[in-house]
Amino acid sequence: MNQVHTQSQMAIVAENGIITRIGDSRVVFHEVRRDKHFADVNELVILNAQGMTALPGFVDSHTHTVFGGNRANEFAMRSAGKTYQEIAAAGGGIISTMTATRNASHEELYIIAKKRLDTMLLHGTTTVEIKSGYGLNTASELKLLDVIAELAHTHPMTIVPTFLGAHAFPPEHRENRKKYIDIICEEMLPEVKARNLAVFCDIFCEQNYFSLEDSERILKTAQNMGFHIKLHADQLSASGASQLGVRLGAVSVDHLEMTSAEGVSFIAASDTIATALPGASFFLKHSYPPVRALIDKGATVALATDFNPGSSMTYSMQMMMTLACTQMRMTPEEALTAATLNGAAALMLSHERGSLEIGKKADILLCDVRSFTEVPYHFAENHVVKVIKNGKVVV
Ligand code: NIG
Ligand code: FE
Repeated sequence: MNQVHTQSQMAIVAENGIITRIGDSRVVFHEVRRDKHFADVNELVILNAQGMTALPGFVDSHTHTVFGGNRANEFAMRSAGKTYQEIAAAGGGIISTMTATRNASHEELYIIAKKRLDTMLLHGTTTVEIKSGYGLNTASELKLLDVIAELAHTHPMTIVPTFLGAHAFPPEHRENRKKYIDIICEEMLPEVKARNLAVFCDIFCEQNYFSLEDSERILKTAQNMGFHIKLHADQLSASGASQLGVRLGAVSVDHLEMTSAEGVSFIAASDTIATALPGASFFLKHSYPPVRALIDKGATVALATDFNPGSSMTYSMQMMMTLACTQMRMTPEEALTAATLNGAAALMLSHERGSLEIGKKADILLCDVRSFTEVPYHFAENHVVKVIKNGKVVV
């Protein structure tokens, strides 16, 4: 993670969306001019990046981008001293967003989410994972996944869909939680699979949400149907969710604010990716995940925004890099790897995205900095001036 290969005076060539050459700019220009193949290309776009830094597009591997309403009122309550858990226990939190989301139409949700994705792209995110989880009944969860599918078809960003029906118990099943888990396993998952609406199945494994036993049942059911799995693990308490995730072969365990030393060792000894979401720690004033220990023990760490209305209302992967360096003792190199290549790995896309290499998709940012270290250093600034997605200029 700490080995970032940087070079100056370089040029990158992309053809049909794929990076085909990277090298000294004079040599590459000479080759391209000489190459008859390029003379025949009628749509040759040349971008001058002099004085700028090209980076791989950010891969935001954990977001809840599609939801109705917002929770600025709860933000105000928290600033007056209420905690996230107190607000949730009083009927706010995920359930208040569930109500706003159930009341919104497919079209309304599509328009709001499209606007959010447009802004994410301006900030350099070229690949994003989006979870359902604010519907919490079959029709509304499917509505969210349908919106995500439509976005995936129409938006330039690469979008990876995740089913998160197990985000919270909806009020109508609070007295009979098993019933809701039955609905997830017997109704929602089969329908999501039949319509191919999600790659991953995720779960909020936490006190007052889904227990270790609930999580194991839902995640194993999902795996048997062919879903890959992720967990919201150890966010509010050290529940052992990380160990469960590792044991089940989860692609990633996310959050980890409260993960124990045992959890750290489990993750470090596995192929499961540890996804840190420092925006949630920052926004809720919680502790940060033990990222230094994870990296030092050999874990693969990814960084994501967790963009959602309750715990992390931000699109900025650049700000996540700053928090990684200032709050979690990551180096700028580690933060960059975590925000790009390791995010791609958390979405099982690292073979084609997440780094600037010949043969990979041309997802490239041009940033107005002389070195990538200025990105986390000069914080709360958007350094991205151009975005190339699959070889096309989109910003
Ligand atoms: O990742 N922890 C669970 N889910 C979200 C928060 C959802 C919400 O508050 O609306 C998270 O932090
Ligand atoms: Fe989340």
